[in-house]
Amino acid sequence: MSQQLLMCQGINKTYIDGDNEVEVLTQLDMSLSSHELLAVTGRSGSGKSTLLHILGTLDNPTKGTVLFNGQDIHGFTGAKQAEFRNRHLGFIYQFHHLLAEFSALENVMMPLLIAGIGSAKAKQRALALIGQVGLKDRAQHKPSQLSGGERQRIAIARALVNRPSLVLADEPTGNLDSENSQSIFDLLKELRDEQGTSFVVVTHDLQLASRLDRVVNLTAGKINPVATLIGV
Ligand SMILES: Nc1ncnc2c1ncn2[C@@H]1O[C@H](COP(=O)(O)OP(=O)(O)OP(=O)(O)O)[C@@H](O)[C@H]1O
Ligand SMILES: [Mg+2]
Repeated sequence: MSQQLLMCQGINKTYIDGDNEVEVLTQLDMSLSSHELLAVTGRSGSGKSTLLHILGTLDNPTKGTVLFNGQDIHGFTGAKQAEFRNRHLGFIYQFHHLLAEFSALENVMMPLLIAGIGSAKAKQRALALIGQVGLKDRAQHKPSQLSGGERQRIAIARALVNRPSLVLADEPTGNLDSENSQSIFDLLKELRDEQGTSFVVVTHDLQLASRLDRVVNLTAGKINPVATLIGV
């Protein structure tokens, strides 16, 4: 039986926009087991990126708590949150944030170097992941020399390289063709099976979503279950 990894209780997120208050998340409850691959769907503007940022301590909820292994991550100091993100989290952003002046390889090595891993070992691990996302012959290229989809795959390798226990992925295959999207989803499943990684994956691709363990929909600020087509 899997353990609970994440537990969100009563999450509210309100943005103040001039004189208007916009409530994006409303009393949202959600949980994620360890080893679980969860797909989050929802229309544009429904709050999916907002939710991922809150789960990853990049933003604070207006109300409510997020427990990671029972710990209230928004109660951590800034330094402890940074350490938490480096040790436990991998982010795949909706718009990749690769560092322009570094090569693909150096971008992927970065989280390992920050975590204090020696450069020879960091290079070996980074190259292995770059191979897994199918870009072995692009390792020395700078982001500007890569296509949008290739950049996205390098950003995915970077998010996974320090073997996080939780990966938050915001439309990880948004820029990819269906063959590459399939292989990224295969890679996520492989990591779950081999390393027990848990994933929250925001996606608009319902067919790919249905290949994950559970699919939910974010509507009216809340998480709602969606019947999956697994095995059908
Ligand atoms: N900093 C902000 N200030 C004010 N409003 C914001 C801010 N960030 C997001 N919003 C609003 O919150 C809502 C949810 O935004 P969010 O980016 O979470 O949506 P999303 O579900 O990720 O959409 P998409 O599928 O287009 O990426 C939107 O209406 C957006 O305009
Ligand atoms: Mg978004």
